[in-house]
Amino acid sequence: MADRKTTRVFVDCDPGIDDAVALAYLAARPEVEILGVGAVFGNNTVTVTARNALRLLALYGRPDVPVAVGAGRPLVQEPRLAEHVHGDNGLGDVELPEPEREPVAESAAELLVRLARENPGELDVLAVGPLTNLAIAIGLEPRLPELVRRLVVMGGAVEVPGNVGSHAEANIVNDPEAAEVVFAAGFDLDLVALDITMKTVATSDWLDRLKEVPGERAERTSAFLDFYADFYKGIFGVRQCAMHDPLAAAVLADPHLVTEAFEAPIRVELTGSLTRGMTVADRRPRPGRDERRVTRVITSVSGDEFLDRMLDSLR
Ligand code: BDR
Ligand code: CA
Repeated sequence: MADRKTTRVFVDCDPGIDDAVALAYLAARPEVEILGVGAVFGNNTVTVTARNALRLLALYGRPDVPVAVGAGRPLVQEPRLAEHVHGDNGLGDVELPEPEREPVAESAAELLVRLARENPGELDVLAVGPLTNLAIAIGLEPRLPELVRRLVVMGGAVEVPGNVGSHAEANIVNDPEAAEVVFAAGFDLDLVALDITMKTVATSDWLDRLKEVPGERAERTSAFLDFYADFYKGIFGVRQCAMHDPLAAAVLADPHLVTEAFEAPIRVELTGSLTRGMTVADRRPRPGRDERRVTRVITSVSGDEFLDRMLDSLR
């Protein structure tokens, strides 16, 4: 493992416009082996997100990566989708060709567990949707946190407001019980929360530069992001968009981009009548008195280099 040049990755996602760009980011990297993709409900139904994953892997040049259908609903609560953010088809209403293949027979959780067992200590996991598939996988294989080398999660709002209500972020609030299972499990875990994704945005200048990039990948991605930027204009007041999931992909593939982080145990509020789904970081030092493994919460990245790399991935 020490001299292996490749990074083996399982991606769990709900594509989703920014999920699409995260897949593009990883797919463009010859040293990244995407061993499997799990689909989960979130931005759309799991049937739609799984088919989108198949379409996107074909678009971005990884047509052989297995896609597994995962959870269609949260562990406890009712599902809530996000067509207003990602379009009725999950991809900004941009039509891609029908997939030429079907998802595999295994569930997303089963695929993740099998890949982790086959690659002990060598599989990295990128989770950019609700964490339901991961929580189910931990139930199937309690040793998952030891088998997986590293987990990068896009989710949470630790010291900033949420994007669903005042306090919670979509991926966490869409299945708070599953998220709490994952934060408690003991992974080597990097958290790419709204704290960093809302300040690492694709600017209108970057979106214009993307329009100049020739080829189908860039063209389709630019069309997805046009829809996304229309939504985000209502939030930022200017035409730009947050790059939540691609930033998490970049933290996984290019860890040197991280310039600051803090470590703290993270818990998900499950019972608060006003704060359900909030990610709570206890930053008071309590050495030896908190059994929960700390999560690294990313607070600063080299944003310009990230944006350049994201553009390069679409060339
Ligand atoms: C997260 O929620 C989803 O809508 C996006 O794809 C991203 O994973 C941002 O809160
Ligand atoms: Ca997502």
